Amino acid sequence: MIGGEIEIAPDELSLAGPIGDLDARMARILQVEGKPHAWFGSAREAVRWWATHILPEGPVLLPSYGCESVVQPYREAGVEVRFYPVERDLSVDAGRVRPLARGCQAIQVIHYFGFPANPALFDLGVPVLEDAVQALLSPWARVHGQWAIASLRKFLPVPDGGLLVSRQSLALPALPEARVAGPLAGAQPGSDPGDADVYGRKLLARMAKFRARRDGDVEAWWEAAADLEVTEEELDEAIVPRAMSRWSRAALQGLDLDRMATRRRENYRLLFGLLFGRDPSSAASPDRPNAVAAPSADSAPGVRPAISIRPLFDALPESVVPYGLPILCERRDALMEYLVDQDIYTVIHWKLPPEVRRDDFPDSWWLFDRILTLPIDHRYGDVEMRAIARAVRDFAGRQ
Ligand SMILES: Cc1ncc(COP(=O)(O)O)c(C=O)c1O
Repeated sequence: MIGGEIEIAPDELSLAGPIGDLDARMARILQVEGKPHAWFGSAREAVRWWATHILPEGPVLLPSYGCESVVQPYREAGVEVRFYPVERDLSVDAGRVRPLARGCQAIQVIHYFGFPANPALFDLGVPVLEDAVQALLSPWARVHGQWAIASLRKFLPVPDGGLLVSRQSLALPALPEARVAGPLAGAQPGSDPGDADVYGRKLLARMAKFRARRDGDVEAWWEAAADLEVTEEELDEAIVPRAMSRWSRAALQGLDLDRMATRRRENYRLLFGLLFGRDPSSAASPDRPNAVAAPSADSAPGVRPAISIRPLFDALPESVVPYGLPILCERRDALMEYLVDQDIYTVIHWKLPPEVRRDDFPDSWWLFDRILTLPIDHRYGDVEMRAIARAVRDFAGRQ
């Protein structure tokens, strides 16, 4: 049972005390002290609020490779969106973006999977909304743009949490708090047990997933994963900007983000090495092909699996705390299904929004058709990375 949303241990949390104290500590933990910032329920809520209250009227330029929830806040705020091309390897040619940026009020730049975006995109003369949703544990990822966003639940055992950072002063939004504590009757002073919102349902499902994993209950684990997919669908329906819940603010205090970051890097390197036969810090060479098709210790001597599975990124730079290990596979859907049979949950990042048309952005769609993200986060170590590598190689060997 590997992958999917991060489980939450049903620990007792102290939710007492002024929220200002929690916020000051959160700002320290996420290294945004001294910078104007605000906490929301999710990153898209932050963008939705920003698009209405901060962004001047006019079009916004978005990357052609992104998810539905990147476009959603603009759609709902009635902001015109345009797109700039993202290549098959997620690189962006700033020369192609420059003419498209003219006349736009802002450009959104994504640090894909925690890997730094092209720095030239921050020098186009158009204010940048820096998207650090997949780079939460990389403090460098929220300092280049005029504004930056991040999402906490993608990396951490919390049900909600979005961050908006600004270079200029920010009139702090007065928003109702995300209601997560309802189902934990009495956990939040004054909360009504029946009063949870989508994040409350997420909290319960993440706790159920935790118990299932602890008890080795595969069926319950997949059930919780399915419940979590439903909460994501709910989030896709309509954005209601909320303040980050007190529950998540309190839960964040005890987390060791450095340890999580280290573990992610270690797992990435280990899994990369097991799959591709080299360290991601060394470049691929013709005699060490950068693909699973290379013979492995586990496959019969001389047998070369017919199918090629390649890493999306060749190297893991020092500064990167990866979100996952994205690979490319011509039979991606079959691989994904095979991994489900091995109780390994993988994710396609991302199904592109309908506004990004295949004819206009064939390279982004080429990538969407092949990409799959393997989990490497802090929950896991050697055993899980070896299990994933074995399953991927078995799949490759069977084709
Ligand atoms: C690159 C990127 N930006 C923004 C978002 C929106 O984040 P959230 O789900 O916290 O609203 C996502 C969500 O997956 C994302 O991947």
